[in-house]
Amino acid sequence: MKLDTDSIRKSIREFEINSAESLEQFRLKYVSRKGKVAELFSKMGTLAAEERAAAGKVLNELKNEAQSRFDQAKIDLESNLSTERAASDDITLQAPARPVGSHHPLTLTLEEIKRVFYRLGFSIAEGPEIEDDFHNFTSLNFPPEHPARDMQDTFYIHKDEHQIDKDLLLRTHTSPVQIRKMLEQRPPIRSIMPGRVYRNESVTYKSYFLFHQVEALYVDKNVNFAELKETLVMLAEMVFNRKVEYRLRPSFFPFTEPSLEMDIWWEQPGKPGKWLEILGAGMVHPNVLKSVDIDPEVYSGFALGMGVERMASLRYGIDDIRIFYDNDVRFLEQFQ
Ligand code: DAH
Repeated sequence: MKLDTDSIRKSIREFEINSAESLEQFRLKYVSRKGKVAELFSKMGTLAAEERAAAGKVLNELKNEAQSRFDQAKIDLESNLSTERAASDDITLQAPARPVGSHHPLTLTLEEIKRVFYRLGFSIAEGPEIEDDFHNFTSLNFPPEHPARDMQDTFYIHKDEHQIDKDLLLRTHTSPVQIRKMLEQRPPIRSIMPGRVYRNESVTYKSYFLFHQVEALYVDKNVNFAELKETLVMLAEMVFNRKVEYRLRPSFFPFTEPSLEMDIWWEQPGKPGKWLEILGAGMVHPNVLKSVDIDPEVYSGFALGMGVERMASLRYGIDDIRIFYDNDVRFLEQFQ
């Protein structure tokens, strides 16, 4: 007897597989244990002993061929399906919106201030928020018991429950970083010093117990008032992004002489215009240079200090300082 392998091999090769159903039919017919190939295996017993070895070899080949045709067809079918699915995806559909954060208005304002001074070749310096009397007051030419020390509503740090240490305090301005910078580096010095400062003030729409300042210091030979003035005008125009009408008003700070305050003319639609103070500045006082061992006969300098909240309030029309610290997303979202 002879097994009919040729016609089965032919139909394994020619069977059309183009869908999941026809794949399943192919499997049932040729691969499964009840299929045609299995059936031929079961007929082996009917063969003469000397025919069995050759027939077994042929049947094994047939079985392998059916299995590999099935495996390949399955792979082909799945990849067709996925390309069909990809073609039917609508890539113009709007993706769900992802929430995007925003920079805080104080950060945006500080960035703008930094940009002005980067242009002028200033670098950034930092100092500690817990300061001592020497850096915060004495070296800045505040005489002992001078009322200017009281002007700044200082937070002193308690040694223990009963004793206030008048030497250790939260810095009331960024000016002490001028001192630290000059102690660490000899002129020429061109630095800005941004940071937090603290004052014992009650919380209202216009005052808070902490806020941010940026100090600028330029010390070299022959630094003069005209350079200070140019710097102030450039600063105001870049921060407010327009030509500004300004005035430099004589003022007093212990650490500068002469000292000034800068006002800019402020107009808002429907309201009468007014002068608004935006910063303090002046030529570095000789006593300050002496306190850090810089010879005021050889070197001179200018310094200025401004409040970041003040600048940001004007830039964005914010009339309550407390909103800067609330972290209310409805407020912050507006600065994207
Ligand atoms: N430190 C001053 C303040 O907190 C601000 C200031 C004024 C800084 C004049 C300066 C300056 O460097 O020259 O009120």
